[in-house]
Amino acid sequence: MCGIIGYVGTDEALPILADGLKNLEYRGYDSAGVALVNRDGIEVHKQAGEIDDLVLPDSSPETLGIGHTRWSTHGKPTDANAHPHVDCTGDVAVVHNGIIENYADLKAELREDGHEFTSETDTEVVPHMVEDELADGMSLPDAVATVVSRLEGSFALGVVAPGYDGIVATRRGSPLVVGHGESGNFIASDVPAFIEHTRQVSYIEDGDIAHVTPAGVSVEQDGEPVDRDVETVEWEAEAAEKGGYDHYMIKEIHEQPSALRQAISGRLDELHGDVDLDIDLPAEYLQSLEEIQIVACGTSYHAGLFAARLFEEYASVRASVEIASEYKFTGGRDPWRTLVVAVTQSGETADTLSALRRADQSGARTLAVTNTVGSTVTREADHSLYIRAGPEIGVAASKTFASQVATLTLLGVYLGRRRDTLGSSAASEILSNVRGLPGAVQQVLDDEDLVLEVAEEYADGDAFFFIGRGLGYPVALEGALKLKEISYDHAEGFAAGELKHGPLALVTPDTPTLAVLTDGTRPSETLNNVKEVESRGSPVVGCSSLEADEDLLDARFDVPELGVMEPLVANVYLQLFAYHVANLKGRSIDKPRNLAKSVTVE
Ligand code: G6P
Repeated sequence: MCGIIGYVGTDEALPILADGLKNLEYRGYDSAGVALVNRDGIEVHKQAGEIDDLVLPDSSPETLGIGHTRWSTHGKPTDANAHPHVDCTGDVAVVHNGIIENYADLKAELREDGHEFTSETDTEVVPHMVEDELADGMSLPDAVATVVSRLEGSFALGVVAPGYDGIVATRRGSPLVVGHGESGNFIASDVPAFIEHTRQVSYIEDGDIAHVTPAGVSVEQDGEPVDRDVETVEWEAEAAEKGGYDHYMIKEIHEQPSALRQAISGRLDELHGDVDLDIDLPAEYLQSLEEIQIVACGTSYHAGLFAARLFEEYASVRASVEIASEYKFTGGRDPWRTLVVAVTQSGETADTLSALRRADQSGARTLAVTNTVGSTVTREADHSLYIRAGPEIGVAASKTFASQVATLTLLGVYLGRRRDTLGSSAASEILSNVRGLPGAVQQVLDDEDLVLEVAEEYADGDAFFFIGRGLGYPVALEGALKLKEISYDHAEGFAAGELKHGPLALVTPDTPTLAVLTDGTRPSETLNNVKEVESRGSPVVGCSSLEADEDLLDARFDVPELGVMEPLVANVYLQLFAYHVANLKGRSIDKPRNLAKSVTVE
């Protein structure tokens, strides 16, 4: 996700903002910029690319400014799309994290009133709306409060304008922190942005309008002043980057509710049982489609397996999933009626790109499903769909898997509705389950102490087996992959029904089995497989939404009821289990031995 820094005080703002941008670099970004405010106007410097390449003045006397690192979600990483964004007069500058869902309607309205836009971003509506309110005589804080009351979506905003002696900051669903310094005050998306200047912070809450001036910080909620506690951050800079967590991976596991919110934001239309994905696949092509081939590697391959089941069910179309490095042996059949979907969080995996190129050469239409706007896969595929998970730093994928599955589920609904194979009420039910994901995942995260206890009990196992059927099968594979990647233990995922055809020979009292027992996985059949391993002495941990299975399970993780999305929620327990087993063993969790985040060789 994007990064925000802002400063107002008695020191020169430029070096503070430049350092702040560097401090935000760890989050991942594709563009950066700053806006410096003087009495007469605003000076903006922004660019796509590395912060080190951002051209800034050698010095500036200004003591007020905002800065931003952008991770693209709307519009490519270009200079014009970089933040800060300004209004028509160039006198209001805005930095923004998150997504403004109703930006298209607002933009159309503003255009009709004569506003001119210079970027493809959702953000740019905000400075233009503030411009109108200021022209009506409002103060900057009141203008921002009025504007945000018209915004839908999730966001954190920092706004400056000449004539107002500070920064107005607000949030809804995206993080925002205020820093109280000796020679001035700060806003930021997270503490590391300003930690060398102050450790005194206040966390801004949803709906707050914070007035951050050189003299101090005041906060209002619904027009009434409110107090937000000032806390002292005890972490060192490196720990602060991890939000107080020991590893990026566990931070990213905990970011899943907000990543999922961002993945689905503005895309669900439960009323009409439809989705808005902005991918423009021609209607006749979708009707004549006979096969979908998904190509992917690693965790993305598992997301593909999950999606293929849904595509077949929702869109009545043959759906296959190929490990990308194997596609050269199988790909290229019936290209005219085949859609090839390349699933890759980085958008740079060489095996996946090579499969995509083979599909392209054979004449198939291609769709990239990725986290990275502007990545190679988006430049080479015919269409792109973004999972909007925000940057992921831990090598073992966690939040991107959840966002891939959620986005691919929406793609399944999109295909089913356009092929007339999925009714609107069935689609509405699926979408309401997708809508419930952030809350259900949060419930699992709140249960982390129990997962730690279970991890302590079983961490010394000789090997670990993960079983599931249907949508539980890709989750079993992903659960095993997570554990082997970060704990270096032997872990295997199996289709539960396959156990008796071989793997059962490996089962002993020292090989714990983790079973997925939720909707979409035929849990009562899997319980028979649970009995098979149990009678060989293997302890069984169930991720379950069933009512009565306690007698069979040695430990049980409760999965909240969420229909077809339950297996994805169960996966969060498996992520936590893998993390805690690895952590108990003192493994290098964020950078496991021999592995790389983005594998750019075949
Ligand atoms: C590497 C990473 C895996 C990831 C895979 C595919 O092997 O270590 O975590 O799942 O690449 O990456 P992609 O960026 O294509 O999703």
